[in-house]
Amino acid sequence: MANIIDGKKISAQIKEELKEKVAAMGEKGIKTTLAVIQVGKDPASSVYVGNKKKACAYIGIRSLAYELEEETTQEELLALVEELNGREDVNGILVQLPLPSHIDENTVIEAIRPEKDVDGFHPESVGRLCIGQPGFVSCTPAGIIQLLKRSGIEIAGKECVVVGRSNIVGKPMALLLLRENGTVTIAHSKTRNLKEVTKRADILIVAVGKPKMITKEYVKEGAVVIDVGIHRNAENKLCGDVDYDDVAPVCSAITPVPGGVGPMTIAMLMNNCVEMYL
Ligand code: GUN
Repeated sequence: MANIIDGKKISAQIKEELKEKVAAMGEKGIKTTLAVIQVGKDPASSVYVGNKKKACAYIGIRSLAYELEEETTQEELLALVEELNGREDVNGILVQLPLPSHIDENTVIEAIRPEKDVDGFHPESVGRLCIGQPGFVSCTPAGIIQLLKRSGIEIAGKECVVVGRSNIVGKPMALLLLRENGTVTIAHSKTRNLKEVTKRADILIVAVGKPKMITKEYVKEGAVVIDVGIHRNAENKLCGDVDYDDVAPVCSAITPVPGGVGPMTIAMLMNNCVEMYL
């Protein structure tokens, strides 16, 4: 039976480490402030934003919350980002996605100064990751690297298959695995013979957004399986993109949903807020 990779425990460890670093920074008079902007009242976004504020409070990072009306114009939002870009007491700016349809997400992401782009979504941050320069890295894939490393799973030389090519997870995930010297394949909805491709993986990362799509037929015996998906099924229970009960018996390690990748995203956001001082 597979080892269960405990994202809750690993994220708690990271938060403890960060709390100590923030306390040490505080003694030197260094303060960290994250500005979090939410436009509208999407319930899932409100939960995520609430969790980010809680994590900041726990670690000792000051958070500024901007809860804007759904009707906020793009110009008004850009004006707020511009104001925060210029504020010396604000180190990180996060605009919660998705934004209402009348606002262009790319325009807003590009307006955030790369030095304050703690989400790692700005084209300059992505470009830096691509060419191996220091910069902010998208939190979910950065968290997955931590899950692997802190579970003692070697990446160098391994066949890594990422299923999904989103800007937030799939693409930066592939770049991070490459940086760790993995041999990386990105598969996606148009990939032919997907099962053959995923069966090559020593490390299989699934971010497709389809409940329980990955069954044991997709997985090599002894592979490490990381499940980025999170869905609520008909019985109101959470599940991932991987059919956990089917896959767990054939792999060497697997992340559960909930309690796997999910808790790591906020831990890495907090890490990005602190990292700029290290
Ligand atoms: N919406 C869902 N995940 C994220 C995230 O990591 N950052 C932001 N800004 N919005 C999100």
